[in-house]
Amino acid sequence: MTRLRKYRYYVFLAAIIVCLLYRSTKDSEQWEPASASVPYHRAPPKGMNKAVVYDTGGTKASYHDDDSVQQSLQNAEEAAPIKLPVLKPTTVEDAADKFDLPPSPTPPTTGDETKVVVYDQDGAAKTTDAPLIDIPDKKVGQGAKGVGIPVHGAPDGKNTKDHTATTTIHWTKMPEHFPVAEEDIIPLPTGKPKQIPAVQYKFEKESTDTRQKRLDRLAKVKAEMTRGWNGYVKYAKGHDELSPVSKKYRDPFCGWAATLVDALDSLWIMGMTDEFEEALLEVEKIDFTTSEFRSEIPIFETTIRYLGGLIAAYDVSGGKSGRYEILLKKAVELAEILMSIFDTPNRMPVLYYNWKPAIASQPKRAGSSVSIAELGSLAMEFTRLAQITEEDKYYDAVARITDALYEWEERGTSIPGIFPERVDASGCNRTAEALVAAKEAANLEQQQSLNKRSEVGTLDASDETKTIASKRQKLRECIPQGLAPGGFNEQYSMGGSQDSTYEYFPKQWLLLGGLEPKYKTLHLKTVEAVKKWLLYRPMIPDNRDILFSAKINTQGNPEVDAVMEWEVTHLTCFIGGMFGLGGKVFDVPEDVEIGKKLTDGCVWAYETMPSGIMPEGASVVPCAEVNNCHWNETMYWEWLDPLFASRNAQVEEFDTRQKQLKAEKAKAKEEKKFVAAAAEKAANAEQDGQFSRETFNDKSRHAPDPDELESRKVQKRAPPTKIPTSSDRNGASKESTKSNKLEEALDMNVGSGATVKPVDLGAGQIPLQEEVEEEFPDPQRPLSHEEYVQSRIKNERIPAGYVNVHFRRYILRPEAIESVWYMYRITGDSYWQDKGWKMFNAIVSQTRTEAGNSAIDDVLTPNSAQVDEMESFWLAETLKYFYLLFSDPSLISLDEWVLNTEAHPFKRPA
Ligand SMILES: *[C@@H]1O[C@H](CO)[C@@H](O)[C@H](O)[C@H]1NC(C)=O
Ligand SMILES: *[C@@H]1O[C@H](CO)[C@@H](O)[C@H](O)[C@H]1NC(C)=O
Repeated sequence: MTRLRKYRYYVFLAAIIVCLLYRSTKDSEQWEPASASVPYHRAPPKGMNKAVVYDTGGTKASYHDDDSVQQSLQNAEEAAPIKLPVLKPTTVEDAADKFDLPPSPTPPTTGDETKVVVYDQDGAAKTTDAPLIDIPDKKVGQGAKGVGIPVHGAPDGKNTKDHTATTTIHWTKMPEHFPVAEEDIIPLPTGKPKQIPAVQYKFEKESTDTRQKRLDRLAKVKAEMTRGWNGYVKYAKGHDELSPVSKKYRDPFCGWAATLVDALDSLWIMGMTDEFEEALLEVEKIDFTTSEFRSEIPIFETTIRYLGGLIAAYDVSGGKSGRYEILLKKAVELAEILMSIFDTPNRMPVLYYNWKPAIASQPKRAGSSVSIAELGSLAMEFTRLAQITEEDKYYDAVARITDALYEWEERGTSIPGIFPERVDASGCNRTAEALVAAKEAANLEQQQSLNKRSEVGTLDASDETKTIASKRQKLRECIPQGLAPGGFNEQYSMGGSQDSTYEYFPKQWLLLGGLEPKYKTLHLKTVEAVKKWLLYRPMIPDNRDILFSAKINTQGNPEVDAVMEWEVTHLTCFIGGMFGLGGKVFDVPEDVEIGKKLTDGCVWAYETMPSGIMPEGASVVPCAEVNNCHWNETMYWEWLDPLFASRNAQVEEFDTRQKQLKAEKAKAKEEKKFVAAAAEKAANAEQDGQFSRETFNDKSRHAPDPDELESRKVQKRAPPTKIPTSSDRNGASKESTKSNKLEEALDMNVGSGATVKPVDLGAGQIPLQEEVEEEFPDPQRPLSHEEYVQSRIKNERIPAGYVNVHFRRYILRPEAIESVWYMYRITGDSYWQDKGWKMFNAIVSQTRTEAGNSAIDDVLTPNSAQVDEMESFWLAETLKYFYLLFSDPSLISLDEWVLNTEAHPFKRPA
């Protein structure tokens, strides 16, 4: 019985697979009529407030087991009544026609309407005093199909070991091709640092119980650090990364001991001084002038991990008054090499630096399609080095990038305030060059035809050659421009390849003691753009009030052509911290509130996964309005199945066609029956000598040729080719059984009431049956909307609320816990400690290996395969943020320190 069931199940599965294959190979017009125009979703009607009961069970987030966020929202409101800006876009209406959207509802107004309707677990409305988050309504479309999201923040070309090197080649300092004159060097801003509002909550003395709980958690974090560090030292010391499953190592970052350098300040902060000092012996051995693993230095990764790591280790261990001068010495050694990247005509850096002298000596330009994150995330490290060494040249190098970004922002990007992911940093305007070339080619042609017509050789052959040569020369020259988009399709988001440029604006402002106002402007404009264009509230089963930041694709006119990706990516999770920090230091309480909701979004993403860990990338359903957002299962299913509108029609069409076929078949059968009956009759008549031409003629319209009748008679009377046995009837020989059944059916029909008896089939005869139809689902039958969605949810294991989980990995990333830590230090609310503790336990339980912790392959299962990688940021960032979440809040206080994008703390000016 079980076997039979299994068998049926497999047949059913096979049927589905055949069906899918069939549908994908079939003329797509027939089954996917809607694919040509992906439907843009209608926004939910205003005033819709009944949440559809959600009952898939198990994955429901238990946000309201802790009311502390609501509580803290209230506290915040009491502390700071918020006057909210109205950021009404003039754009949504404009775009509405194109996308067949309903007119966007009027944005909430300020004034006395600051009471927000929030929904508790049961979906019942109640009002609170929480400040109103004013984010303009979003153009809610389905987004582009099949548009991916980047997995890594920056390409790093891992494992590109250079085997060609035979003798060791070293980088050497070259004379600059495009030096900055001494008097043009941009100096560090001078003057007394500005008074900056406190970032951290004023923590009160904790109770003994609270303290004990905190210290227990702290000890568990430290134990994880100790285990990971010991694993690294034992199996991978001096190499970039431990392979935590195989207990081997990898060298993706030039082989300069990335994990060791990256973890230095964590060791110090966690009080592992012996380990710290042992590690310094290794630091001393690092030779940054050569790499047997890579011929190109990845500048972004090298700067944030190595340079940032060395500088922070120097800072936290006491700086000038500390005992570890070696750290500064190595930082300068590395920085001197990196400074070569700025030797370009426009002083924009080369981001993959070919350090070998033969190539390094050549003049070069910055790339024409570089990632904005890699370009903009060098600022803090070089600035801090300039401060420590009092060498303005390091500051000059990055200040020029900031100036270029600032100038570009003033000139205007497609989405004012933020920058496209790909940037042309070459400084050469190819459009202008092409225009000049075309114009000159046209001129030349004109000149030539003129010469021909007049038959007067004003230009002799050698003159002409000279002209062309000089034009070619001219073409090689650069028509200068500032930063510009690095491609036709522009992408704007706060995610990978863009993230840390924005993160660095407020942090750089803090590092400079508020003395460079450009960073404040850049930050405030960023935040304004993010609110207007990117932030959205997802529609999720318990209506938890969270936010995410989307991605926009545009070809330069987003008011009209913006295509949204409602993404949820781990890399973007830093943004809660950015809003929180910026909100505090620039005194914008609304941004702190937004920071909380963004951070809680990432917490939600952790809680909704079976592993308790957020995936690398997923997508959800956006609500059209941030302050009127309710779960609607029907709508959710429509997002899970973009073809919902046509799918049921397809099924209907198919069923109608099947019905027709069936009717035709039945008709044919009737005819056969009649013919057979007539033949019987004729045969009988002949036999009995009572053949009546008259009788036959009566039905002649339907009667075939008598010869044919004769042959059919013989055929249908012929015994079955195989007498079915009882085992056959159990389904083992379906085909023969079926053909027999057909024969019999014909025989029996004919025989009933006729004098001629059917052929005796003996004991194996199958009794008469109607042909059984649809015993199994017809493999050609298209899935209904419901069947399609159910199969997606089941096969892709999609947790409720998600439309898609594209990238299921977790590679030990820090961004979510980073923001949770900022929220805790800013609000003092233990909600964040509790959420962080859950995240810690989930991560450790899923990633732990004997030697350390490993990236995992699939957060959609609590038993994922491990992928044998432990990025250096596990010890440098992730565990550091966990540790600082449970440490005394005065350790690395945000009022004294500012952390780079690799969690390396730099000392803020006093
Ligand atoms: C490049 O040149 C074109 C044509 O002259 C001009 O329209 C465009 O603004 C220039 N781009 C930049 C970034 O200066
Ligand atoms: C839920 O969504 C469906 C489909 O978009 C819509 O027709 C329906 O009105 C919505 N239900 C409520 C209660 O708004």
